Formats: sequence, structure tokens, C-alpha cells
Amino acid sequence: MARHLITSAIPYINGIKHLGNLVGSQLPADLFARYQRGRGHEVMFLCATDEHGTPAELAAAKAGKPVAEYCAEMHETQAEIARGFRLSFDHFGRSSSPQNHRLTQHFAARLDAAGLIEERVETQIYSKTDGRYLPDRYIEGTCPNCGFESARGDQCDNCTKQLDPVDLIEPRSVISGSTDLEPRETKHLYLKQSGMRGQLQEWIDSKGDWPILTTSIAKKWLNDGDGLQDRGITRDLDWGIPVKKGEADWPGMEGKVFYVWFDAPIEYIACAQEWVDAGKGEDWERWWRTDKGADDVRYTQFMGKDNVPFHTLSFPATILGSGEPWKLVDYIKSFNYLNYDGGQFSTSRGRGVFMDQALEVLPADYWRWWLLSHAPESSDAEFTWENFQQSVNKDLADVLGNFVSRVTKFCRSKFGEEVPEGGAYGEREEALIADLERRLRAYEGHMDAIEVRKAAMELRGIWVAGNEYLQDAAPWASFKTEPETAAMQIRLALNLIRFYAVLSAPFIPDASAQLMEAMKTEDDAWPGDVAQALASLPAGHGFTVPEVTFRKITDEEREDWQARFAGKRD
Ligand code: 2FM
Ligand code: ZN
Repeated sequence: MARHLITSAIPYINGIKHLGNLVGSQLPADLFARYQRGRGHEVMFLCATDEHGTPAELAAAKAGKPVAEYCAEMHETQAEIARGFRLSFDHFGRSSSPQNHRLTQHFAARLDAAGLIEERVETQIYSKTDGRYLPDRYIEGTCPNCGFESARGDQCDNCTKQLDPVDLIEPRSVISGSTDLEPRETKHLYLKQSGMRGQLQEWIDSKGDWPILTTSIAKKWLNDGDGLQDRGITRDLDWGIPVKKGEADWPGMEGKVFYVWFDAPIEYIACAQEWVDAGKGEDWERWWRTDKGADDVRYTQFMGKDNVPFHTLSFPATILGSGEPWKLVDYIKSFNYLNYDGGQFSTSRGRGVFMDQALEVLPADYWRWWLLSHAPESSDAEFTWENFQQSVNKDLADVLGNFVSRVTKFCRSKFGEEVPEGGAYGEREEALIADLERRLRAYEGHMDAIEVRKAAMELRGIWVAGNEYLQDAAPWASFKTEPETAAMQIRLALNLIRFYAVLSAPFIPDASAQLMEAMKTEDDAWPGDVAQALASLPAGHGFTVPEVTFRKITDEEREDWQARFAGKRD
């Protein structure tokens, strides 16, 4: 039994995420976690809300709430929606947890002791009207690179260039709109990651099996002049983790907090401590400390491409720089973007389908199937309502749903609600089993390699193979002349339903549970030998005809949803 540590990029607390966010990290991470559990491996699947930084403060101010209260509420909202999508986190933590406060301050102390932290006096923008500094998103102006007029202090959304608030042309405060701003000197801590280039290069070079998307971004940042600059890890903000050296005060840093991107990835580790403190487990160190058993853990991270630099450079710099035996990531699966109906999903403009809205329209499995089978792996992908309708109606309703319904209803009417006996397999059955054997091994290969689209297509191929078999065998015809043969064919087909339930569970867990219940079985063992797996339900085993597993989306519904989600969300 292998041990898999799996983390998804932790979503910002500022509002409900859209489907593009979901398919870029949490959902494929869940697919992988469910698959590895299904294969009988030990899994620790962690995610959390990313609660610090200017996005959190600004969203709380907009909601008219104290930021701590806003974060607590929004965490619950996100947790509830995650449950709705059946995201099977072992723990859904909070980067604002006391555990993360302690651990972040601990890392800062270790990095300082290793000589990797430097205090620098720098110029920041101070707003006299607001009586405060304006870091990151608290300031907007014109991008010096592309001329976009609403560039933020940390990054231009138009050309993606990383910015410094002092770079902006005609800057203004996001809080008050004031342009009465002045540069002032303030002291901050810098992580001297530029000195770790060699170490990071060597580590990344050793990861020959990583997806091209991940390594190309990592190498670009590593080798670009801009990429591996020393990084400011503190901010003049109220909300965040106070700058301390372990438990001790950090002279000169009073009133400052760590930068959100410093403490967010540390939450991956703190989250496992939260898991223990929540009484869900006993030992988090065996997942995270290579001196305490984590050396045989395989650690996989999931994220959108914009998060790759932080996970391939900054976070490893923190881990390596600490000089302590923390577990480093083994494999980083990153994703391109999902676009929405001819444009981009946009949180700020409310464009696209958001996670809560999606669940109001259809159950989780419909979305999970479409999103995963169209995951933006090799390039950006696009959600259109036509494609969604087509995919649901064909793959889920016509292929899988229809198979289940035909087989169970036919059996009930001809043999009753028990698996019939029938004779021995013939050539057609042997051929099906051989085909499924090949397909199953291919499916496992894609799932092991986290090739999400390929895995979905192979799974669909497995469903199709059953349908074609049924069509070809036509037990409704053979029943008239050879009832024994028809019984054998239906015995095989009922067993295929259980087989499908087990294999499909990582993609469509609710449907899978429904099929297992209908087949009155708890045998969810991953199939080794296909012939053996298809003998799991013996003759005489009871079953029931399930409710419709997947319904079709009508043209009317499609048009209705298309119109409803065309504009800004309310
Ligand atoms: O892009 C985002 O949504 C960030 N909140 C991801 C943080 S991942 C990590 F570092 F924890
Ligand atoms: Zn720009």
C-alpha cells in the first residue's frame, strides 16, 4: 500500500469560486484522491481557504463586515459548496488558523537563522487620506508595460506582468479613490531566494517526469531576470500573521504581517496539524516530516498555471531554506484556463457559472463529468452550453444511464429482481472481457499519470463497450429461443453495472453510490482480473431498478441557462 499526500491550491476567501477555478485544482485533486483510495492506498487530501492579503480585506470591506467575521462566514460557505461537489478533503482548513500562525512564524525564524532573510528599507505608497500604506491590490493605476488603466499594484490583469505599486502611472487608492499619495520609506523583510537558484535549478532538473506546462513555467521564471528576485515577504496590513521570529518579537517589524503568498503554502502543512487538532487523526508528521516517516509518501500538488511559480520556486525555497526535513512535492499537476462561452470566466465581473449556481441547476456529477472530461490540460478549454448538453446527454444519459436502465428493467420483467444463472460464457463474452481488460489497464495508466481527459475518454470507452455488447448480444431476442443464454448475458450485464460503479466513482461519486445501492452490494474492490470482477454478483443475488441515473438536458433548459448566465451574477 502506497501513501499519497495530495493538496489542491487553496482558494482565496473572497467569494465563491467559478467552474474555471474548480477544474484547475480542487476537482482534479479530488479525482486523484478518490482514485488512489479506490486502489486501496492510504491518502491524505488537504485543502483550505486562503484568508489573508488584500483580497480578503477588500472583500470584507465591501461586505461591510470585520475581516475575521467575513472570513469565518465565507469559509463555511466554501466548505458547504465543496461538500456539494463531493470534494473529499480529509480536512478543509484555514490559513488564518493558529496552527498556521505558529508554523509561518517558525519558518521565518528558521530562514532568518540560515541567513536567508534581509531587512530592507524600501519605498511604498502611503495614502494620507486613508492614513495607511497601499500595498498590492489597495492601489490601482495605469500599467507601465501595456497601458491598461486598471492595473493593480501587484499585477496587471491585462498583460499579467508582476508589478510593484510604485511602478503604476497615475496611481489611486482603491479604498477612497484618493490620488493624494506619496512615497514613504518603510522596512520590510526579504527572502533571499536569488541565492538559491542553483539548488532550485537542480531540484527542478531532477523532475523529468513533470508535465511540460509545469516545467516550462518553472524554468522560465528560474532563468528570466524577473523570476527569482529576492521577494518581499511582509506587508503593512492589519489582517494577517504578525511578523515574529518564532515566538519572539521581531524588532522593527511591529504592526506588520507576512505576505499572503508566504503563509498560504505553509498552510498545506498546518492543515494537517488542524486535521489532528480536529480529532480526525493522530499523526501529521508522518505525512510531512521525512525524518518521521514521510520519506515514503508521494506528494502531488494540483493548481492553475498562474500558481506554478510560487510552488516551483518560492515555496520550495522556504522549505529548503529552513534546513529542516520537510517533505517536498514530488509531482506538480498544473492546468491551463477554462474559458466561458466566448470569453473568460471572471470573478470581478461575475462572468460565467459559479459553483453555487452550478449546483442549483444540476447535481454535482453532471458538472464533474463535463469539467473533468474537458479539463484544460494541453491548452485552454472552453465551456459552452451546447457542448455541456451534448456531453451530458450522450455520455451520461445515452451511454451509461441507458445501459443501467435497460439491463435492470429487462431483468426485472423476465427473470425478476435477482441475478439470473444462465449458462457458460461464449465467444462474445470472452471477447468483451479481453477488451475490458485492455481498457481497464489503459484507464489505470492514465489515472496514475493524472492524464485526466485521456482517463475520462477511456472510462467512456469502457461504458461504450458494455453498450455495444448488449446491443450485439440482444438478450431480448435470444430470450425467446435461448433463455439460458439470455440469462447468462444479463448476469454479465448486471455485474458490469457494479464494475462501472467502481471504476466511475472518482468521476461521478453519487451515481456510483446509487448503482452500488441498486446492485445491493458493498463490494467496491478495484478490479484486478476482469473476469473475476464480473463474477462479484452471483446468481440469486438481489438488486433493484434504480431511479433515472442521468437525465437529459432539454434544448429549452439549455437556452434558458445560457440566457441566465450571460450577464453579471446578482
Ligand atoms: O490563486 C489562488 O487562488 C491562491 N489563493 C492559491 C494559493 S495556493 C497556496 F499557495 F496555498
Ligand atoms: Zn499591463
